[in-house]
Amino acid sequence: MSATRRVAVIPGDGIGPEVIAEALKVLEAAEKKFKLALALERLPYGADYYLKTGVTIPPAEMQRLGRDFDAILLGALGDPRVPGNEHARDILLGMRFQLDLYVNERPARLPHERLGPLKGKTPKDIDLVIFRENTEGLYVSVGGTFKQGTPDEIAIAEELNTRKGVERIIRHAFEWAKAHGKTRVAMADKANAIAAHMLWRRVFDEVGAAYPTIERRVMYVDAMAMDLVRAPEQFQVIVTGNLFGDILSDLASMLAGGLGLAPSANRHPGRVAMFEPVHGSAPPMAGKDVANPMAAVLTLAMMLETLGAGDAARAVEGAVNAALAEGVGTADVGGTLGTRAVGDWLAQRVAK
Ligand SMILES: NC(=O)c1ccc[n+]([C@@H]2O[C@H](COP(=O)([O-])OP(=O)(O)OC[C@H]3O[C@@H](n4cnc5c(N)ncnc54)[C@H](O)[C@@H]3O)[C@@H](O)[C@H]2O)c1
Repeated sequence: MSATRRVAVIPGDGIGPEVIAEALKVLEAAEKKFKLALALERLPYGADYYLKTGVTIPPAEMQRLGRDFDAILLGALGDPRVPGNEHARDILLGMRFQLDLYVNERPARLPHERLGPLKGKTPKDIDLVIFRENTEGLYVSVGGTFKQGTPDEIAIAEELNTRKGVERIIRHAFEWAKAHGKTRVAMADKANAIAAHMLWRRVFDEVGAAYPTIERRVMYVDAMAMDLVRAPEQFQVIVTGNLFGDILSDLASMLAGGLGLAPSANRHPGRVAMFEPVHGSAPPMAGKDVANPMAAVLTLAMMLETLGAGDAARAVEGAVNAALAEGVGTADVGGTLGTRAVGDWLAQRVAK
């Protein structure tokens, strides 16, 4: 890593600030050990800021995030005091849509056999990455309600699939597979019931044809959900739309040790990337020093890798793997420590 990299940190709500504090502790150790040049800026956006100011995120700030930073590290957003969740939508979906972060990369790798819920499945069986289309699908808020609150109420949500959007996420999945020596890419759709999904099938075949060493397979999403549990070892790379990717990646995260261990990245190659643990703000856990900070720490590793600090990324990931191998962790991974003590352990391990 040569030039100074600029990182915006948005701790957010609930357990977000707690897990981000531990990730930053680990980052500090990695910065010292690997002589990283990072400039961090902490941004206050979240429920507290919204309730105080009435502003979710100023439009100029969203532009600045896209223009002035190399990476964004986000905790989680969601607070019972904002039941409409409008701040989370503006900030989180705002970043994905306005910064056009069309790749949602969600790896699911079982770090230790003890943590997997499937009988007989070991870390070599659960090692996959899901690429979820992040800017289209059913999440675009095209639609509306009519006769709301009456027995005749109608609610419509349209699913948006553009040729350009479908093609770029599929190409990204194949490129990633090629760069990482993978030999199989599977796509999930529901083309038997949703005719529009034939677009995905056509584009998958067209794009995939340029990667002759990579085997391609299309599956209906219901069959893939079943097979992820029955025989997860068949999957290396999965590419799918926004809604199916959201659901399948939560399923995959449970195969790989749970939400406390699941990291993710939101990308548009060549632009700022946003990194966040898959989990939410878990309000009932907040303030109790019980949240697992490892998902945020593994998210940090993904960020370091993207910023060109591969050695630091591997040291951070290695620290998490070592902790899990030694039984060190919060209760959700069978450990006895609190959030802060896990962060201390990981930071010390990275510093070694
Ligand atoms: N990306 C995001 O910011 C994001 C993602 C999902 C949910 N949310 C928001 O978070 C709030 C709570 O949502 P939810 O309860 O459906 O999802 P959640 O991920 O916050 O919690 C789901 C379950 O996982 C457990 N869990 C989550 N993170 C954990 C961690 N680090 N360590 C140990 N256990 C953990 C929780 O205890 C809970 O049982 C809502 O406001 C929701 O909108 C935000």
